[in-house]
Amino acid sequence: MAQVCVFDAYGTLFDVASAARVAAEEPGRDALKAVWPQLAEHWRLKQLQYTWLRTITGNYTPFWNVTKDGLDWAMEKVGLTDDPELRERLLALYWELAAYREVPLMLAQLKAAGKTCAILSNGSKDMLDGAVDSAGIGPFLDAVLSVEDVAIFKPSSTVYDMVGARFGYDTSDVLFVSSNGWDIAGASGYGFETVWVNRAGDPIDRLPHGPAHTLTDLTTIPELA
Ligand code: LAC
Repeated sequence: MAQVCVFDAYGTLFDVASAARVAAEEPGRDALKAVWPQLAEHWRLKQLQYTWLRTITGNYTPFWNVTKDGLDWAMEKVGLTDDPELRERLLALYWELAAYREVPLMLAQLKAAGKTCAILSNGSKDMLDGAVDSAGIGPFLDAVLSVEDVAIFKPSSTVYDMVGARFGYDTSDVLFVSSNGWDIAGASGYGFETVWVNRAGDPIDRLPHGPAHTLTDLTTIPELA
């Protein structure tokens, strides 16, 4: 049985598409209404690509910066370049992303079972604190671990090392949960027991080291831990 349950943040606990979706519902956002799903997808993909490219080239910068850079690329790609107010609004919404519906109960059940729960994220500390507070899940978390302390992004093993350094458990005592296939490949290769949360029904990533478990949402995590 796992003693520690470690969660990726963005896309796993927090719905990253919610920023573009919420902004698109606001009055006067007709241009965004037509393209928000594409904007959200480009934004996320560029943000992630920039983390990997910056890791490979030794150019770490906090996640907040790659989040802004990814948004600028995505806004230009979908033809929304001339809207600084929209840019500010989308960035502000990233600090208060919606948590997926099942998250609070799932974390409460883990805590009731005596598990240690943590976030391990590429996110910047203050961004993560904002999202955790706005989702009201802080009381369930024993730690919010940000790569800011090691200045390199997942899936570098240096980041997964932060879990053992913080809690002192063996890798095999850790249940690691992520919706990102590349994160699951990294964490499985590292030695964590992994759960891939495949909400979108995506194909599995063609990378070494697959997930130990695959779920469609987080509801049954307490049965695996
Ligand atoms: C995280 C993002 C990258 O580490 O999903 O939270």
